[in-house]
Formats: sequence, structure tokens, C-alpha cells
Amino acid sequence: MMYRVAVIPGDGIGHEVIPAAIRVLEAAGQRGGFQFEWEYLPWGSEHYFEHGRMMPADALDRLRPFDVIFFGAVGDPRIQDNVTLNGLLLPIRRGFDQYACVRPAVLYPGVRCPLAGRQPGEIDFTVVRENTEGEYAQIGGLLYPDGPHEVAMQAAMFTRHGTERVIRFAFDLARRRNAKRLVTSVTKSNAQGFSMGFWDRVFTEVAREFPDIRTESLLVDAACMDLVRRPQDFDVIVASNLFGDILTDLSAAITGSLGLAPSANLNPTRTFPSMFEPVHGSAPDIVGRGIANPMATMLAGAMMLDFLEQPTAAQAIESAVRHVLASQSALTPDLGGTGTTETVTAAVLDQLNKDQKVYAGKGAK
Ligand SMILES: NC(=O)c1ccc[n+]([C@@H]2O[C@H](COP(=O)([O-])OP(=O)(O)OC[C@H]3O[C@@H](n4cnc5c(N)ncnc54)[C@H](O)[C@@H]3O)[C@@H](O)[C@H]2O)c1
Repeated sequence: MMYRVAVIPGDGIGHEVIPAAIRVLEAAGQRGGFQFEWEYLPWGSEHYFEHGRMMPADALDRLRPFDVIFFGAVGDPRIQDNVTLNGLLLPIRRGFDQYACVRPAVLYPGVRCPLAGRQPGEIDFTVVRENTEGEYAQIGGLLYPDGPHEVAMQAAMFTRHGTERVIRFAFDLARRRNAKRLVTSVTKSNAQGFSMGFWDRVFTEVAREFPDIRTESLLVDAACMDLVRRPQDFDVIVASNLFGDILTDLSAAITGSLGLAPSANLNPTRTFPSMFEPVHGSAPDIVGRGIANPMATMLAGAMMLDFLEQPTAAQAIESAVRHVLASQSALTPDLGGTGTTETVTAAVLDQLNKDQKVYAGKGAK
């Protein structure tokens, strides 16, 4: 089996974590009996400086034939963030209808939790973020720019189709996870009665299709507090584009580091390619120092393998990362270690090889 993968390292540490994760994916492919054909696409801020745009005009046409997209990060201190984000990442998410952004948050053994008294394994939930509309719909404009009467307007767009499908996805996921069988909806319907009141209504309607799954609704401010106060209670959280974005930085922080948080932008109907990336950005403060944690991108690679129906290989990567964290043999500075991208990658590859020998030994019995 051969998978065609479009690789967009993007900006900053994207160029450091993507090659590291690809080495791990290659190793997983070798042990799992499948291969990758990687096509590198040099899109991002350098492309912008050279061509005046973050990616070519026909970028989506070029991406369409691939099985999946593996993405690093986007963002450059020399360019306004809305230009880089809207020029690369958001058009791919929207154009390929990657409506479910799935972001697991797991407190792994060996990782220090900034919250007092939390044990490994206690925090294990997934945020499903609506990924194609909501507050990121890019509807708005400026009137009388730069003058004393300047007006800025930006609308949020919530459609029944878009809201229903992402909420239904979250319920399906709670069923598949078969853990606490709970879906928590996060809104701000006390202040935003039209859009978020609508979201609440759709949530209640969709919930009726899943009588075996418990439900809970929280306002986003309370949800932030509860993620700190009682993170162990959550199972699947579903939220709008903006709230999902914010909650997943918080969930990354309470599970140890942004450097551990993976993300999948899924087109569940498989009409267009899905995209896999770390939650973090281009981290200009550490770029070029060789200390970026590659584990979030490796775990995003594992989610990609799961999507490509290679669950054993996906589990092998997750288990190798888990083992390296637990042994604390190689940790980057974001996790309190003195390791580098290279030593962490070598440790994960070593663990994958060891695991393979164990499996081979078991098979030979
Ligand atoms: N999906 C994306 O590509 C994405 C997401 C967030 C931010 N951004 C962009 O990235 C740029 C920087 O934004 P920011 O600083 O707010 O967020 P960031 O995620 O890049 O970094 C936040 C902090 O976390 C650290 N960090 C992030 N990833 C790490 C890793 N793998 N290993 C170790 N430490 C890591 C950074 O050093 C920094 O201190 C901006 O241009 C922003 O727009 C892009």
C-alpha cells in the first residue's frame, strides 16, 4: 500500500518538526508494510515574499489528488498574522470542507501537569472544533479606515448544516471512544443569543439521536475554569471555531505543553483530503535552536495513520512517544528537559524499533 502525502512544512519550527515526524512515520510504514510518497510544497511566508501570496492560486487543485496533507505551522513576525493564516491554512480547511477539527488532550505518564495533584491518565478528553465557519467565516470590513470614525465589523456565521454536522460528529466520537460517553457543548449563549442560542438548540436536537450519550452545556468562561478545576470529568467537548481554538491551547497547557498537542482537520466524508498538523504555531522564539518538541507532530502523524486505516501503526507511534515520555530519557525544554528535536526523534525511533522486535518475537512463538 502506498499513500500520497502533500507535505507543507510552512514556517518557523514547521521545518524542524515535520522532517522529524516523517522519519518516525517512515519507520512505522516499514514495520507496518506500507509506504509513503511525500511531495514537499514550499508554501508559506517565504513564498509570500517571493510571489506575493502564501500559496499559488491553483493550490487547492494541486492538493486535491493527495490522500492526505501533513502540515507544519504558519506565521512569520514580519507579516501580519491574519495575512499568513488566511493565505494558507484557513483556505485549505474551508476549501476542503475539513469541518471537524479533532484535538485530543492527554496527560501522559512522565509529564508534569501544571495543575496540582493530577495523575497521568486522569486527563483524557478530545475537543471537536467547528473548522469551516463560525467566527472565522471572514465576513466583514472596515469603513473610513485609519480615520477617527473608523468602523470595523466582523460577522460570525452559523449554518444549520454546519452546526448539525459537527455536533453529530462529536456524538459519534463519544460513542467510538466509549469512555465517559459524555459530550460537553461550549458556547456563550447568554451574551450571543442569536448564534449561540441557535447552537444550543441544535445541540439539544442532535442529542436526541444519541440517547446513550450524556450531555452537558457550559458557557465558555465557565468551561475555562472547569478545564483547570475538574479536567478529569471531560470526554468530548464540541465548540465553535473561535472557542475551540482557545480551549485547545488551554487543554495543551494543562496536559504539559503545546509541544505535545496534535490536531486533525477532517473531511469525514472523504470528498477531499484531510489535513494533520500540530496545534502549535511557528514558534519564532525558538526557531533554529533545534529544541522544538517534535512529539505533537508525531502524534498528528499517528492520527493521520488512523485516518488512513493503519490503526496498528498509529498505536505503535503513540505508544513509542508515551514510552519516551514515561522514561524521561529525552525531553525538550518545554517539558523541563535538556533534549533536542534530534535526541527526542532518535529516542522515539529507538523505541519503535524495540517494540517491533518484541512483536516479531511474539509472532515467532
Ligand atoms: N496552526 C498554526 O500554524 C498556528 C497556530 C498558532 C499560531 N500560529 C502562528 O505562529 C506564530 C507564533 O505564534 P505564538 O507564539 O502565539 O504561538 P506558538 O504556538 O508558535 O508558540 C507559543 C509558545 O509555545 C512554544 N512552543 C510552540 N510549539 C512548541 C514546540 N513544538 N516545542 C516547544 N515549544 C513550543 C513557543 O516557543 C512559544 O513560547 C504566529 O505568527 C501565529 O499566528 C500558527
